Amino acid sequence: MITILWTLLGFALPGFGFHHTIRCPQAKECQLALLSHNDVVLECRSYKADWFFLGMDMEEKHIVFSGIPNIKENPEGGLFIQNPSFFNTGLYQCRGWNGTQVTGYKIDFQDASKLHITHTGLNQKPLKNETLNMGHGEIVFTKWEPWQKCSNCETLGERKRLGFCYVKEPLEEPIPCGLYLGEEEELFPRVRPEMQVEACYELCQRNGIGVDFVIFDSFRIQEQTEYAWLTCPLASIYRPVHWEANNTALTWQKQLSEKYVSTFMDPLSGGQQLRVVQPAIYRCFVEQELIAQFNPANPDNIMEFERRSKGKEWSRKQPGKADSVLRGLKLMLLMLSVLVVGAFLCKVVFRPSQGKKRNQVLLVK
Ligand SMILES: *[C@@H]1O[C@H](CO)[C@@H](O)[C@H](O)[C@H]1NC(C)=O
Ligand SMILES: *[C@@H]1O[C@H](CO)[C@@H](O)[C@H](O)[C@H]1NC(C)=O
Ligand SMILES: *[C@@H]1O[C@H](CO)[C@@H](O)[C@H](O)[C@H]1NC(C)=O
Repeated sequence: MITILWTLLGFALPGFGFHHTIRCPQAKECQLALLSHNDVVLECRSYKADWFFLGMDMEEKHIVFSGIPNIKENPEGGLFIQNPSFFNTGLYQCRGWNGTQVTGYKIDFQDASKLHITHTGLNQKPLKNETLNMGHGEIVFTKWEPWQKCSNCETLGERKRLGFCYVKEPLEEPIPCGLYLGEEEELFPRVRPEMQVEACYELCQRNGIGVDFVIFDSFRIQEQTEYAWLTCPLASIYRPVHWEANNTALTWQKQLSEKYVSTFMDPLSGGQQLRVVQPAIYRCFVEQELIAQFNPANPDNIMEFERRSKGKEWSRKQPGKADSVLRGLKLMLLMLSVLVVGAFLCKVVFRPSQGKKRNQVLLVK
């Protein structure tokens, strides 16, 4: 129940729910590379945090007053950056009540639309080191993050790792490409982030006990475009995501090999979004947990499948017919009000004959 509420709220209100959170130790300035198109939160542990941004144009802006449309301060003092792009590259400073810097983030948002994706199972090779020839012996190379967890457990899964573009001069520390080159990065085709995928097998750590998931009812394949986009809540390019159609795994290996596959995991979001052209029951898993199920609009031909696949761990009742998340949210609020009103009636109005009336309230539900 709690997971569902969080998921729904996360969808309805941007800034709420799961986001890739970046932490930098107090009184330090961290330098890092991230991907565009994927939301992040920068943390600042300070009483009354105040955020400033120094962009590549070297103009300092106060976040609250400058009105940068995709950046918001969240109530915990953090900074929520939604759908970042190259224009969000720069220095983010969190200042305390007396104006001193508490923590700072020098961030290069690298262009996810240029992501160079390789699969070891397909023998595809990552990008090679290259020299820039700008006169300082600069080398462009990819700095790899650790491998993420396997997308699936106790059955064959896939894991990915992200690689960011860095420039290194001899005897100097490497610097993220965007911070080093600024807008000139456009001139160098090698300047791009990478994602590497490989097959993996892991044992399950938990047995998926008691975890709730959301059911999105009746998605439709649009007639004009002949497809629909499904968005897996809580997923992100920074976390392992796994999709199934009618219980069959969808893999990057299939998608990246030249063979035709009807579904398409959006590389920009690391597979958070799935484009589908056929009705089926789609399920998505994040960090090996079932998070959401998407049922097609016309379920007649799928009822049989549903009945067969039920019984195991998926035997949950549907929370109601809701063809959009907002309707789901409204339903939750309605249920909540019914419960509150119910509790109120129980307590106040029907107090004299409590036992008997309580049954009636339960009937309303
Ligand atoms: C500002 O406050 C921090 C702790 O909140 C303190 O360490 C620092 O010395 C203060 N700086 C000034 C200039 O008062
Ligand atoms: C590429 O450059 C980086 C940074 O200088 C270095 O650590 C790495 O070993 C190089 N890789 C190859 C294959 O030369
Ligand atoms: C999923 O199963 C249903 C019912 O068996 C079938 O009609 C549908 O075409 C299947 N979809 C895919 C993509 O396999």
